[in-house]
Amino acid sequence: MFDLIIRNATLQDGRQNIDIACREGKIVAVASNIDGDARDVIDAEGFLVTPPFVDAHFHLDGALTHGNPMSNQSGELYEGINIWNRLKDTLTAEEVKDRARRICLWALANGTLHLRAQTDICDPKLRAIEALIELRDELRPLMDLQIVAFPQDGYLRTPGAVETMARAIEMGVDVVGGIPDYELTAALGQQSVRELCELAHRHGLLVDMHTDQTPDPQSRQVETLTAETIRLGLGSRVSASHCPSLANFDDYYANKLMAQMAVSGMNVVVCPLTAATCWGVMTRVGELYEAGVNIAFGYDCVLDPWYPLGTADILDVAHMAVVFGRLMSATQQTRVFESITYQGAKALGIDRYGIAEGCNADLVLLQARNPIEAIRLQPPRLAVVRRGKIIATQPKRSAMLLFEGDERLIDFTQKNLMDTKFDTSLSN
Ligand code: FE2
Repeated sequence: MFDLIIRNATLQDGRQNIDIACREGKIVAVASNIDGDARDVIDAEGFLVTPPFVDAHFHLDGALTHGNPMSNQSGELYEGINIWNRLKDTLTAEEVKDRARRICLWALANGTLHLRAQTDICDPKLRAIEALIELRDELRPLMDLQIVAFPQDGYLRTPGAVETMARAIEMGVDVVGGIPDYELTAALGQQSVRELCELAHRHGLLVDMHTDQTPDPQSRQVETLTAETIRLGLGSRVSASHCPSLANFDDYYANKLMAQMAVSGMNVVVCPLTAATCWGVMTRVGELYEAGVNIAFGYDCVLDPWYPLGTADILDVAHMAVVFGRLMSATQQTRVFESITYQGAKALGIDRYGIAEGCNADLVLLQARNPIEAIRLQPPRLAVVRRGKIIATQPKRSAMLLFEGDERLIDFTQKNLMDTKFDTSLSN
């Protein structure tokens, strides 16, 4: 007797007619036609089943504050930081937690069960850190939050930030953050990268810094982070977030840097939605894949000083990554889907992740036949499973065309688009 069996699933590697059996929170069998009964049975009807989505970069503490006290008129990063600083002193831990919880539940309903929260520590009271640590514990039965201690106003530049970083580490954050481009000079930025990597190394924590987060082709912070990753042997424990300047580096320097990033084993975390609003340029996603760099994606911002829209659905991000990055081939688009699943899990260091015997029974059933269709349609998550229990569902999406007394169910899949009999009549 199993707790849950999902029958007739398609997996993202293309395997079809697969059953997935779960017991005591773990996947215990993955095969065709598994014998046995289960408390819950889901008929996947040939739709795609994946491990849960990974959102590797999110500012939960600022989410849902759009327009308060004003909205960002230029869309630029620094205007957003100024607005956030006017708002920050008015916040309470309880209020931050309520907003963050709402976003986490949106993400969860969309199949994201792993989320890394960049959390501002440039507040002597550390209200956001307190809120997010409480929320991480509260939501643990449903999803895993990783908390980054993020010095939004600069680690060396902000009086007291060195001390609040130390306190945040004592309070139990998972990741040491940084923002070297926002330090007062390039040299101080490099110093901050070195100090923060050493700090993380001493405490056995992960590293995720906002690096080269400017369109400036002269920015040189990722190379310092790469060198520190190699010097301290931190490998995949380090992530470089954003990196838009890489898109504007000359090709000689960019190619040398990307090769070194691959050698270091570090991850790059890309946030295509805010890359569009803040800089109008992303990073070299296609070339980073080619160089062998592990890439994760993040939503970054929802309804806050940096992004005026948002759903917390990582498929929205994947869609923008394909468009903004001109990732035209099926191979590249499949890699984007891997980035919101397996590559994201590698970046966050998630154990027992995947669809195989012994993995955690955390799964998502999508109303799509394959990963590329999932990115294109951003379809309903028909079921979200955590440790073998169904924790969220959505009804199937359908549309009915009513035309000249006839009714026809519209199918948005590529296969059937061409044989809809209304195609010609509607275009007349
Ligand atoms: Fe960010």
